[in-house]
Amino acid sequence: MRFNSIKQAVALAACMLPSAFSQASGGTNGTADVTPNTEFNAMRTMSVGFVVVPGWEILDVFGPLEILFSLSYFNKMTLSIISPEVGLVPAGVPPHSFAAGLPKTDYGYVLTPQIQSTHTFANAPALDILFVAGGFGVVALDQENSTIIEDFIINRFPRVEYIVGISLGVVPLAKAGILNGKRATTNKSAWSYVTTGRGSNVSWVPSARWVQDGKVWTSSGVSAGLDTTYALLKFLYGPEPLDTMMNVIEYAPHINPSWDPYAVVYNVTGANTTETLQDCVAPVGL
Ligand SMILES: *[C@@H]1O[C@H](CO)[C@@H](O)[C@H](O)[C@H]1NC(C)=O
Ligand SMILES: *[C@@H]1O[C@H](CO)[C@@H](O)[C@H](O)[C@H]1NC(C)=O
Ligand SMILES: *[C@@H]1O[C@H](CO)[C@@H](O)[C@H](O)[C@H]1NC(C)=O
Ligand SMILES: *[C@@H]1O[C@H](CO)[C@@H](O)[C@H](O)[C@H]1NC(C)=O
Ligand SMILES: *[C@@H]1O[C@H](CO)[C@@H](O)[C@H](O)[C@H]1NC(C)=O
Ligand SMILES: *[C@@H]1O[C@H](CO)[C@@H](O)[C@H](O)[C@H]1NC(C)=O
Repeated sequence: MRFNSIKQAVALAACMLPSAFSQASGGTNGTADVTPNTEFNAMRTMSVGFVVVPGWEILDVFGPLEILFSLSYFNKMTLSIISPEVGLVPAGVPPHSFAAGLPKTDYGYVLTPQIQSTHTFANAPALDILFVAGGFGVVALDQENSTIIEDFIINRFPRVEYIVGISLGVVPLAKAGILNGKRATTNKSAWSYVTTGRGSNVSWVPSARWVQDGKVWTSSGVSAGLDTTYALLKFLYGPEPLDTMMNVIEYAPHINPSWDPYAVVYNVTGANTTETLQDCVAPVGL
C-alpha cells in the first residue's frame, strides 16, 4: 500500500478503527427523531417494498435485497416489488435523452435482466420501509414529465416508517417534496442533474455515503445502497444477527457516512477533499 501523504496514512489508520464511527451508524448528522425499538422490531413482521420502473439499476435493488434476504432468515419480513404494472420489469434502459434538449438515444443494446413485480402503485400493501431504486428509467420518466413514482410517494410517505432513496431514486423523493427542509444526498456522478431545481430548501450534503434525516434516508450512487441498508437495518434491529449475516455474505460495509471519495471524483461543489480516498473497511462486529 502506498500513501500520498502522511495525512492520508493517518486518516487511513483512523478509518480502520471500527470504533471511530460506531456512533455514526445512524447516518450523517442523524437527526433521529425516531428511536427504533430493536426488541419490538425483532418480533414484528416488517413489510418492505421496492419501487422499480423499467430501466431500474440492478445493484440499487439487489444490493439492499441481498442484505434483507439474509436477515430474513432471522427476522420476519414480507417483500413487495412495486412497479407501474405487475409482471416482468426490465432493467434495460428505455430510450431517453443523454441530456435535456438532445434527441432520444436508443439504449436497446444494453443488457436487460428483469425482475418480477408483485404489485402496482394502486394495490401495493401497507409498507413499513419503502425503497425507491434509481436507474436511467427514472430519468426517462422525468423527461416524459411522468409523476407516477412521485404520486405513490406522496400517497404513502405519511404512512411508511422509513423511505430510502437509492442513487437516482432520490430524484422522485425530491420531486415529491419530501426532502424539503431536509438534508439529503444522491449519486455523485449525477449530482447536478439531481440537485438542480428539485424540491425546495433541500440541504444537499456533498460528501456523504448516505444521509438520514428523520424517516428519510438517501443514498449515494448504486453500491452505496449496500452501506445505507446496513446502516438502516442496524438502526432498526441492532448489530445481531445482522453483523453475522454481513460476514456470511463476506461484505465489509462502509460504516462512516461521511466517507465519500466519489464526491471528489466527480468534483461535487463543497466536497470534503481532505478526506482520504482510500477504501478502508473491515468486517463488522469483531
Ligand atoms: C445537522 O442538521 C441540522 C439541520 O439541517 C443543522 O442545523 C445542524 O447544523 C447539523 N449539525 C451538524 C453537526 O452538522
Ligand atoms: C415536459 O415539461 C417541460 C416543461 O414544461 C416541457 O418543456 C417538455 O416539452 C415536456 N415534455 C414532454 C415529453 O411532455
Ligand atoms: C429550510 O429548512 C430548515 C430545516 O432544515 C428550516 O429550519 C427552515 O425554516 C427552512 N427554510 C424555509 C425558507 O423553508
Ligand atoms: C449514478 O447512476 C447511474 C444510473 O443509475 C449509474 O450508471 C452510475 O454508475 C451512478 N454513479 C455512481 C457514482 O454511482
Ligand atoms: C474533476 O476536475 C479535474 C481537475 O479540474 C478534472 O481533471 C476532471 O476531469 C474532473 N472530473 C470530472 C468527472 O468532471
Ligand atoms: C473532512 O474530512 C476530514 C478527514 O476525515 C475530517 O477531519 C474533517 O472534519 C472533514 N471536514 C468536514 C467539513 O466534514
